[in-house]
Amino acid sequence: MTKDLTRNIAEEIRRLKKEKNAVILAHYYQTGDIQDIADFIGDSLALSQKARSTDSDIILFAGVRFMAETAKILSPSKKVLLPDMDAGCSLADSCRAEDFKKFIEENPGRTVVTYVNTNIDIKVLSDIICTSSNAVQIIESLPREEKIIFGPDRNLGNYILNKTGRDIKVWNGACHVHEEFSLEAILDLKKKHPEAKVIVHPECELPVRMIADYIGSTSALLQFTKKDHAKVYIVGTEPGIIHQMKKAFPEKEYIPAPPKDSTCGCSECNFMKLITVEKIYNCLRNEKPEILIDADILARAAKPIERMMDISEKSGL
Ligand code: 13P
Ligand code: SF4
Repeated sequence: MTKDLTRNIAEEIRRLKKEKNAVILAHYYQTGDIQDIADFIGDSLALSQKARSTDSDIILFAGVRFMAETAKILSPSKKVLLPDMDAGCSLADSCRAEDFKKFIEENPGRTVVTYVNTNIDIKVLSDIICTSSNAVQIIESLPREEKIIFGPDRNLGNYILNKTGRDIKVWNGACHVHEEFSLEAILDLKKKHPEAKVIVHPECELPVRMIADYIGSTSALLQFTKKDHAKVYIVGTEPGIIHQMKKAFPEKEYIPAPPKDSTCGCSECNFMKLITVEKIYNCLRNEKPEILIDADILARAAKPIERMMDISEKSGL
């Protein structure tokens, strides 16, 4: 798309937002042009909080399906739109409800904590939800003797297990983006840029986490680059976040951590990148595709999410 066309579409989107009292929420993994037209940009937790508190009639979610579903669960009376229903998540798909149900039955008496990156049928099976921003606080809010099941991400699960020292059975799922970072390629980059700090998301594999200078959720990584004094960062998460890092400190250098193997040679999330400015425009104009969920399922999925929201609020997150 030409720059002029993008500008015209962006203007039309702004007009439609006003006319329909709509808000655009975008995840940090969206492309820069989408982040620039969004009303609010954030990580999974911040976007959930925003979806819950907005007084707009329509929430257009520029992100993936589980995020839009979470917005609908938290704001059931609002119309929630997702510009492309194929925007799924490999991590969510690595945990199917019938298998997870079996896992829970095989490990009875455990509190089921799941990462928000799940399909809604997993949320219904959960006691509490967490995001990467509050996972440690959610686990620590439970009594020390409580035994826990954590799913679906094995890397985040093992990270919080080590951090909290709690009895946690971890489901064996993973995100295809964060699992793919190459330790060797990162170490090579470190040789070329010895002053660079390696910052990674907790969904990365252990060897990558072990050489990191800092581990955190997407927004924690952004905050770190804002406060830290290094001039170069090797960024081990989806590179969409670099748009905000560059906006905050354009004079710093941000190098995307390379993947082991990928067709594009980059670490973009193909699901996140299904959303485009053009699709946002069509979606807002036609008010579809819309997230529609059975009222009973919505109510059941709301319980573990509301529990997370309460604990987060109490922890000042
Ligand atoms: P955040 O919790 O950092 O937003 O992570 C979302 C995600 O999809 C990670 O892959
Ligand atoms: Fe899912 Fe991974 Fe994409 Fe995040 S980056 S939306 S966990 S596939």
